[in-house]
Amino acid sequence: MIQKPKGTYDVYGKLSKQTKYFEKLVSSLMEKYNYEYIRTPLFESSSLFHRGVGDSTDIVTKETYDFKDKGNRDLTLRPEGTAGVVRSFIENKIYAESLLNKFWYFGPMYRYERPQAGRYREFFQFGVEAFGSLDPLMDAEVISIPVNLFKLLGLKGIKVHINTLGDMESRNNYKEALKKHFEPFLDNLCDDCKNRFSKNPLRILDCKVDNDLECMKSAPKITDYLNEISKKHFESVKKYLDSMNIEYIIDESLVRGLDYYTHTVFEVEANVEGFGSQNVLCGGGRYNDLVKTLDGPEIPGVGFALGLERLFTALDYENIDISESENIDVYIMPLCEDKSVAIKYLNIIRMNGYSADMDYLNRSMKSNFKSVEKLNPKYILIIGEDEINNNTFTLKNNEKRVEYKIEQDKIIDFLDEFVGGYIDED
Ligand code: HAM
Repeated sequence: MIQKPKGTYDVYGKLSKQTKYFEKLVSSLMEKYNYEYIRTPLFESSSLFHRGVGDSTDIVTKETYDFKDKGNRDLTLRPEGTAGVVRSFIENKIYAESLLNKFWYFGPMYRYERPQAGRYREFFQFGVEAFGSLDPLMDAEVISIPVNLFKLLGLKGIKVHINTLGDMESRNNYKEALKKHFEPFLDNLCDDCKNRFSKNPLRILDCKVDNDLECMKSAPKITDYLNEISKKHFESVKKYLDSMNIEYIIDESLVRGLDYYTHTVFEVEANVEGFGSQNVLCGGGRYNDLVKTLDGPEIPGVGFALGLERLFTALDYENIDISESENIDVYIMPLCEDKSVAIKYLNIIRMNGYSADMDYLNRSMKSNFKSVEKLNPKYILIIGEDEINNNTFTLKNNEKRVEYKIEQDKIIDFLDEFVGGYIDED
């Protein structure tokens, strides 16, 4: 039997309900934040990720799904959403339409990682990217999105970690300091870090192999290399988070695994025991130079992305069930040979905004009632020979076990009155 590829999973049953609930929730939250939905391709030119995400990152050097298409083009399945959104922002000249553009997206990303709990090869991200503002207000707004989302979901054990990488000048000074610091220890570092030393010494701080070395712990801190602009920016971000009552931890070791960040970076952790490093639910930050790096105008951006699978694990851990769905409004039992009236009214009921389904298995009333138990509709509409001859329906309130005889063309009026919730039947 053919099986799904390693590191992927199917969405059905409870997971399907959770996913639908989550999609609805973020879509309504993003409407409130006035962000626009954006969708970009699942694959892009490989060079977009090399130049965008960065040649020194694990994501690009080790984890991309690269392939050539039949036209010999180098393509890559997107490992993250930011680079594609920035490409679209530039290519479609979206910046010309307005000074500020705020987007959200939700979709699959692909990374060739070693699968384990909370780490997949195909995983889903909800993310946002806001372009056009240098103001630390925008950093604070973006950080508030996952915080508010977790609050709406009822998730309690979360911790917001923030740090700053400063502007280009501060970061370049810091990189020089890191080089000076690590040079004497080069022989002790892993091969990847030897490479990172020349390409981007900041990446050494993010190494999972050399993590425990003494020279890692004694490495200089970015705070000592921040210029005034960078310090001021970070102070304001903190001030705005304080005014929204968002608690945070300043984490000087937070550098993030992607190269495009300037100034603020942040991650939100869930308190899931035994989940290890996979307890980071989301991460993001400001990227003032990325649009320019990808041949666009000088327009700053800030964003974040959240991993759906890790969020669901955290919800399970806190016993929060988001898989509950509404019962359907009407279930039709056609108990006669000719089902034309049944399908006609099924269609009418649905088109009037009510959820409805019917028996497609030609079942008897008895076995129909058995399957109805599981479905638990609000009303059961019985259409037998008698009903058709009398131009009526038998409608049962499934919860209250009350039965009504209704003229066929009054069915929508009835539903408007009782399911629409205007009048209580009692
Ligand atoms: P990232 O930290 O690479 O950032 O990924 C964001 C989130 O995606 C992680 O915190 C995690 O929840 C989830 N994630 C990443 N890899 C996996 C995986 N293999 N399996 C399951 N979940 C995973 C970014 O992707 C940036 N584009 C975020 C951003 C947007 N920065 C600015 N704008």
